[in-house]
Amino acid sequence: MSKKKKPVDPMRGGKRPMPRGWPGMAGGYSTYLQAPAEWRGTTVQVCGMWPFAAGTGSPMVGVPIGRNILSGATMCCDPISWFMRAKLISNPSVFVLGKPGLGKSTIIRRMALGLAGYGVMPLVLGDLKPDYKDLIEALGGQVIQLGRGRGHLNVLDPGESRKAALRLTGSARQAIQADAHGRRSTMVSALISIMRSAPPTDREETIIDEALKVLDERHDGTPVLRDLLKVVQEAPDRVRDVALDRGSMERYRQITEGLEASLIGLVGGGRLGEIFSEQTDHPMAMDRPVVFDVSNIDDSETSLQAAVLLACWSYGFGAVAVSQALADAGLEPRRHYFVILDELWRVLRAGRGLVDRVDALTRLNRQRGVGMAMISHTMSDLLALEHPEDRMKAKGFVERSGMVICGGLPRAEMENLTAVVPLSGEEQNMLIGWQDPPAWDPATGEEAAPPGRGNFLVKVGGRPGIPVHVALTSVEREINDTNKLWKTGADGRPLKVEIGDDGTEEVVEEYTFDDPTMLPPPDPSTRLAPPPDPATRIVAKAGVEE
Ligand SMILES: Nc1ncnc2c1ncn2[C@@H]1O[C@H](COP(=O)(O)OP(=O)(O)OP(=O)(O)O)[C@@H](O)[C@H]1O
Ligand SMILES: [Mg+2]
Repeated sequence: MSKKKKPVDPMRGGKRPMPRGWPGMAGGYSTYLQAPAEWRGTTVQVCGMWPFAAGTGSPMVGVPIGRNILSGATMCCDPISWFMRAKLISNPSVFVLGKPGLGKSTIIRRMALGLAGYGVMPLVLGDLKPDYKDLIEALGGQVIQLGRGRGHLNVLDPGESRKAALRLTGSARQAIQADAHGRRSTMVSALISIMRSAPPTDREETIIDEALKVLDERHDGTPVLRDLLKVVQEAPDRVRDVALDRGSMERYRQITEGLEASLIGLVGGGRLGEIFSEQTDHPMAMDRPVVFDVSNIDDSETSLQAAVLLACWSYGFGAVAVSQALADAGLEPRRHYFVILDELWRVLRAGRGLVDRVDALTRLNRQRGVGMAMISHTMSDLLALEHPEDRMKAKGFVERSGMVICGGLPRAEMENLTAVVPLSGEEQNMLIGWQDPPAWDPATGEEAAPPGRGNFLVKVGGRPGIPVHVALTSVEREINDTNKLWKTGADGRPLKVEIGDDGTEEVVEEYTFDDPTMLPPPDPSTRLAPPPDPATRIVAKAGVEE
C-alpha cells in the first residue's frame, strides 16, 4: 500500500502546512481552533448535509427529558418506551434517588406528561405535596381527594374486580378473584401493622383471611371494615376452626382479643381516622389519568400518611390488574398505565414488615405495558429500616428496577449505592457535586437555585450513566402556578388564563405552537456560538426542546 502523501505547496518550496495552517504572515495560521457550531435536526431535515451529520450518543426513544450534560445532545427516556420500543431495560420501571428538592418529582412529572402524549395514562397513587395534581388536572384527569373529613377509601372494596370476574371465565376469573382477595387481606394486615407498629401474628393473618372469605359469602354489596369486625366478633365456625380455639369460646375470645382491639381502632376513627372504614366516595376511572390528592394530611401524621399511601397503591394496582385481565381476555381495549409511587420511604418507615406489603401490593405483570416509577431520597433511607430482612427487601426495589435515575447525593451515600448500582469514580463525583448547597445571590440577598437541581444520571445496569439536565418548558413552569391556568382556545391554540380571587377567568396571553416562549431556555453548551440566521436554522421537530 502506498503511503498517502501530505499536501505540499509548490509556491512555498514544497513545504507542508502545519496542523493549524501556514505559519507566518498571511498564512492563515490559527492559534485558537474554534469548535464548530452544532445543530440538531431530524434525519429528514439533515440528510442533505451528508456526510457531516453524526448520530447522537444518547437514546432518542421515549419522552424528551433534556440535554445530555456532557454533549448537549437531546436525551429521551422513559421506562415504558425503553422497555417496549427500545428494549434497553429488562422491565418497565424506574427508581429515582436524590436529595430533597433537586427535582425528582419534576423529572417523573415530565415523563408522565410525555407518556400521556403517547396515550399512556399516568396514575399518581398518592400525591403528598401536591406535585402532580395540577398536571393531572391539566391533562383532563380525575383528582380524588383523600384525608380526614375529605373522602374515604374502603380497603375492603374489591373495586371493579367483582364485575370483571362476572365477565371472565375459568382461570382468569379465579386469578382476578384471588388477586382481589389477597389485596384486601394484605391491606387489612398492613393497616394493623401501622396501627401497632408491628405486624399481626400468623394466626391473626389466617383469621383475617378466613373472616374475609366468610364475609364475601354472607354479605350483600360491598363490605366495610365494620362488617369484618362483626364477623370476627360473631365467631362463625370456620373462623373458630382456623383460630384453633379447640371448641372453647373463651379461648377464641382470648385469641382474637388483640385483633378485635385493632379492628375497633380502625373502625372507630382512632389514629388512622375514619378514612378507611367507610365506602369509597369516588371510584377510580380507568380510562383517564388519575391522581389521589392526599396533600391535606399533615406531615406530622406519619402513620396516617403511610396508611393512606399504601391504601392508594393497593387500590390503584388492583384496578390496573383488573384492566389488564379484561384486556387479556379481549373484553376491553388494552390500556397502558404509568404508575407513580412518590415518597416511598414514608411507607417503608411506618412499621415493620411494610416492605413486604409494598412488594405484595405493587407486584404486577410488567410485561404488558404498565410502567412504574418509585421515588425515594437515599439508599440510607431504605437501609435505615430496623430489621435486616426489611433492609434487604427494600434494597431489592432498587436492584429490580429497570433503570435507576440518581440526582445529587452525599458522599456518605456512595458505598450503599454502589453496592446496588455500579458507579464509576467519575460518576460518583458528579453526583456528589450536584448536591452542593446553593450560593447566595449577592444581587437579591436570596438563595440561588441549587446547582444540581434538574441534573440526573440515568443508569441502566452496569452501563455508563447518561448525565442529563431537565430544562422545564414555560408551560411546565406555569402548570404549578395555581393562579394561572392553561386552556385550549376555540381554534385549538393554548391560552393562559388568570384566575381572580372571585373565581373569574381572564385570558392574559395567547400562544401559537411555534411561539419561542413555549420553548425551554437556550442550551448553555452552545452559548458561545454566534446567533444563527433564523432563515437557515434547523430545528428538531420531534422533541419538546428546541
Ligand atoms: N429542572 C428544573 N428546572 C427548574 N426548576 C426545577 C427543576 N426541577 C425541579 N425544579 C423546581 O425545584 C423544586 C423542587 O422540585 P421537586 O419537587 O421536583 O423536587 P423533589 O426532588 O421531588 O423534592 P422532594 O424530595 O422534597 O420531594 C420545585 O419548585 C421545582 O419546580
Ligand atoms: Mg418530590
